Amino acid sequence: MGSGAMHVAITGASSGIGEAIARAYAAAGHRVTLVARRRELLEALAAEIGPGAHVEVADMANPAASVDWIGDAEAALGPIDVLVLNAGVQPIGPALDLDDAGEEALFAVNLRAPIRIARRIVPDMLARGGGTVVVVASIAGLVNTPQMAHYNASKAGVAAWFETLGDELRDTPVKVCTVYPGPVETAMERAAHAKIGPNAAADALPTGTPEELAELLMKAVAKGRARLIYPRVYGVLRFARVTSQWFTSRFAPR
Ligand SMILES: NC(=O)c1ccc[n+]([C@@H]2O[C@H](COP(=O)([O-])OP(=O)(O)OC[C@H]3O[C@@H](n4cnc5c(N)ncnc54)[C@H](OP(=O)(O)O)[C@@H]3O)[C@@H](O)[C@H]2O)c1
Repeated sequence: MGSGAMHVAITGASSGIGEAIARAYAAAGHRVTLVARRRELLEALAAEIGPGAHVEVADMANPAASVDWIGDAEAALGPIDVLVLNAGVQPIGPALDLDDAGEEALFAVNLRAPIRIARRIVPDMLARGGGTVVVVASIAGLVNTPQMAHYNASKAGVAAWFETLGDELRDTPVKVCTVYPGPVETAMERAAHAKIGPNAAADALPTGTPEELAELLMKAVAKGRARLIYPRVYGVLRFARVTSQWFTSRFAPR
């Protein structure tokens, strides 16, 4: 492990995008904490990665558990240098159909847990003089998709919170990167497709891979970028909300 090795903690590391991010950072010689609920998947991934991987089982739907893993992870691998808030759920269905429990869990996992974890870790990063927080939002936070009302709302909310945090920290050594993936080939994407059924428009959407997203995310972090939209073709959405965000970031008082 090189002298520039970092401790990268990734939520939702048991599959899909989070797993690819964990593999990419580990392959580059960094220490990784893998956080999710499915212990057996996390342990299999940690065994593959070898020394330098640490497992934390935590349910992000539980407010206390969503932050309780942090102390153990830092005791095992040192202070967290890069925090990747990636865990998420995506129920598909009409806006009025999600029940109370589903709604609670969705907002807990997609919106409240990332904010709570960042509130717990960013002050330490500021005190140490460095660190990066990455949040995996979605283009669903920029443009609304039918059958995903709660998901759209949670992703718009989480993106808004982290874009604001990034602005507030602009003159500090702590960076915030908000990631807006479009469709990416994962279990979540496959489940959404299966639920919606055959749909020519959905099938034609440019779709990316978790591995390519992980590589681009590492580059964005290394460069201190404020946001990443992937696949690149969806960068056009920048001209929707992200452009107005740029004006606010540039001209609003902090
Ligand atoms: N794939 C896409 O097209 C796409 C597009 C835009 C944004 N995103 C976002 O990308 C992120 C990763 O999604 P993915 O596509 O990689 O889906 P995925 O393969 O289903 O992975 C989701 C991850 O979140 C974890 N997770 C879910 N509920 C959790 C909970 N209660 N507590 C702890 N961890 C939990 C899962 O782990 P356990 O089940 O083991 O807990 C899993 O590791 C999500 O935030 C998603 O909204 C995905």
